[in-house]
Amino acid sequence: MAEYRVAFTPLNKMVTVEPGTTLLEAAGRARVAIDSACGGDGICGRCKMIVREGRVGGDVTGLLTREEIRAGIVLACQATVESDLMVDIPETTPAREKIVIDRDAERFRAVRIGAKTREFVRSPLVSKMVLDLPKPTIQDSTADCERLRQAVEKQSGISQVQTGLKIIREIPRTLRRAGFRVTVTIGRRHGVGEIMEVEGREASPQNYAAAVDVGTSTIVVHLVDMNTARTVDAEACFNSQATYGREVTARMMAAERRGMERLQRLLVDDINSLIATLAMKNNVNLRNITSVVCAGNTAMMHFLLGLPTDNIRREPYVPVVADPPPFRAAEVGLKVNPRALLYMVPAIGSWVGGDTTAGILVTGLHEMDEVGMLIDVGTNGEVVLGNKDWMIACSASAGPALEGAGVKCGMMAQRGAIEKVSLDGGHLQYEVIGGGKPEGLCGSGVIDLVAALLEKGVLNRAGRFVESDDPSVKFLDGLGHYVLADSEESLNGREISLCQEDVENVVTAKAAIFAAAKILLEKTNHTLRDVHTLYLAGGFGNYINSRSAIRIGLLPDLPPERIQYVGNTSLWGAKIGALSCEAWDTLREIAGRTTYYDLIGTPDYVEQFQQAMFLPHTNIELFPSALSASGKGGD
Ligand code: FES
Repeated sequence: MAEYRVAFTPLNKMVTVEPGTTLLEAAGRARVAIDSACGGDGICGRCKMIVREGRVGGDVTGLLTREEIRAGIVLACQATVESDLMVDIPETTPAREKIVIDRDAERFRAVRIGAKTREFVRSPLVSKMVLDLPKPTIQDSTADCERLRQAVEKQSGISQVQTGLKIIREIPRTLRRAGFRVTVTIGRRHGVGEIMEVEGREASPQNYAAAVDVGTSTIVVHLVDMNTARTVDAEACFNSQATYGREVTARMMAAERRGMERLQRLLVDDINSLIATLAMKNNVNLRNITSVVCAGNTAMMHFLLGLPTDNIRREPYVPVVADPPPFRAAEVGLKVNPRALLYMVPAIGSWVGGDTTAGILVTGLHEMDEVGMLIDVGTNGEVVLGNKDWMIACSASAGPALEGAGVKCGMMAQRGAIEKVSLDGGHLQYEVIGGGKPEGLCGSGVIDLVAALLEKGVLNRAGRFVESDDPSVKFLDGLGHYVLADSEESLNGREISLCQEDVENVVTAKAAIFAAAKILLEKTNHTLRDVHTLYLAGGFGNYINSRSAIRIGLLPDLPPERIQYVGNTSLWGAKIGALSCEAWDTLREIAGRTTYYDLIGTPDYVEQFQQAMFLPHTNIELFPSALSASGKGGD
């Protein structure tokens, strides 16, 4: 079949595709991530591209003006490749090269462990050991395989050790060539040890794990030295599945329509490329990466394993697997040691995944005497309430507004994003990640801005812009917006503003999370006063200003000393699990004993949600700090 070349500028990416491929798919294959919101359904209008040369096919869309069509602008998800193409990606289209540079990975690696410092015995899920076996004699003619197994059991303390046929076939030759001094790689498969590899003199003592946070927006990989427990390096990239939608549900629908393989391949390619970069930068042979330990939401776990997600999103919302056994990493296409094992942190339910299980482990919520709450703010907001005796968890669909998407001038938390906004003497000040001119607003900046506008009286408690003599407040057709940076101040010459619709998206998102927290408290007969510590998790959570988050009603109104930022606990949980079988068993135990509470179809939830659709809440008494800050409870 004929193939056409598609070149994307200004990212200088080129790809060869079959005729009929959409430009959006072609971009994905060229490793250009388009931050689309509708998953390629032609609804969001975020995938505009300009065709400079060549011919595209596709249906007419009402999302483009006549001028845009005349200028060669198309929706990449609706336009199909019909010849060689030269395509320009305009600045207004949220497109990026997939790999985020290391400086950004640094932002995602930050973590602060919770209140309890719990030490686990270091016993990696996959370890290497050197064995000096007694040579066979006429008096000791124990079979090679049993000889090896007995030595492994003795040295490792594992009572049950298994060996696959492929390895058994190699054992006699390897033992004799190495003079019965061998290096054995042992992987834990729950309670059983698997002899994964037997090597002679050529064996390297190096042993690494890749700990992976498989996030809906961002994927982070840490390379961990299993011999020293040291994190060697970190890399992060955007999840390329964003091409198929910002939200997990859109991606599940895309998988059903277009095949799971595409979604799986994008994820596997992302992880492979991060691991390869880490290995190259740190001079680590991929053969010495013997385990990949992942934590993510339940849908991401399914995508990575190539499992159907249909039943996760349909009543009664059943995943294929919640606690999968370890698999060969190569089986899903991960390029590390061909015998390496892939572990997934077990999920709590269909919509509360292993990332939350990891969060519980890292914060120590499962061992607390007092009641604690964990909130992971993301596209889905997960909330866990409990202590050492009981735990209950739920998930609320917040949408992407709190992560900077779903907001007109929103962007991910990366260089050029306004991450902090403060009110100083009646004027708004902002801080840009990496300094310089701003390009847009990331989640923490959006939250700060809404809080500041509320404080300033530009927004009322219903989240509506009000007439003001502030020149930055503008009204168009009765709808207000606030200009934070005008076109001269911004990097791309477009003003950075927050419009009425943006505020509504933020209010909806925060209401979803707050309502979820409130429901769990009520279902367990607790009040906010009972919450000893609130842990705020997520790579994004590191940068939220808690005062702003409370001011808008995203977080419950607790004194600052009772709120702890715990950072990317998903990654930490995966890493601790990789380093310790004991921690891994604890993760499995946590997932098993946490009650999953499904908010879907809970009538109370709708009521709580509606009550939370005010800033900070319909019932201002729930937010005493907002009351005292404004000196009043009204608008
Ligand atoms: S309109 Fe093309 S991705 Fe949404």
